[in-house]
Amino acid sequence: MTHPKLLCFAGSNRSGSFNATLAGAMAKQLSLLDCEVTLISLQDYPLPLFDQDEEAEKGVPDNAQKLAKLLASHDGIFIASPEYNGSLTPLLKNTLDWISRVPASEPHPFKNPVFAIGGASPGGLGGIRGLAHLRQVLVSLGALVLPQQVSVAAAHSAFDELGDLSDSRSAAFLSDVASSLLAHSKRF
Ligand SMILES: Cc1cc2nc3c(=O)[nH]c(=O)nc-3n(C[C@H](O)[C@H](O)[C@H](O)COP(=O)(O)O)c2cc1C
Repeated sequence: MTHPKLLCFAGSNRSGSFNATLAGAMAKQLSLLDCEVTLISLQDYPLPLFDQDEEAEKGVPDNAQKLAKLLASHDGIFIASPEYNGSLTPLLKNTLDWISRVPASEPHPFKNPVFAIGGASPGGLGGIRGLAHLRQVLVSLGALVLPQQVSVAAAHSAFDELGDLSDSRSAAFLSDVASSLLAHSKRF
């Protein structure tokens, strides 16, 4: 039997991003389980700001097509998203919007994998309001998004030098999301 393929990435390209650290912590947690894990950075898939005129003129950029194929070829995906003004980041929304413009094919980038989400913020709510918006966007794209999620408050002091969550409660949430994502990725 082949191992489920899981993909992790963050909705921030900031150097020292807490959400990139969270995506890394999830990839590390998943790598302890029975699956194949890939961690990417959206820095490697730069995209212009979505413009429908540009799309009509030039088509969908190669990086959006590459990302669509990458998502479609995985069984489970974890996205760690910062909260910007109560919502997801423009980087993540722009990336999802471009991927949604890639002509539909099978397997589908949003309907094939199962999604899990998480967020990290220096604030006290751990980006939970942004996660509600991210969930809504993914669902509107046809994705199945797991109810379990991980939100890390006080992110500036939440990770140790290895990038692991130092608080046992947050680590337990991360572990629960990882197990659930793997279990649902094995559904077929
Ligand atoms: C434009 C902007 C809006 C923000 N809005 C929020 C917010 O609504 N809630 C919150 O918890 N943090 C907010 N922050 C702070 C981010 O959580 C913080 O910059 C965080 O480090 C971003 O994630 P990253 O470390 O993965 O880049 C905001 C930051 C920026 C730049």
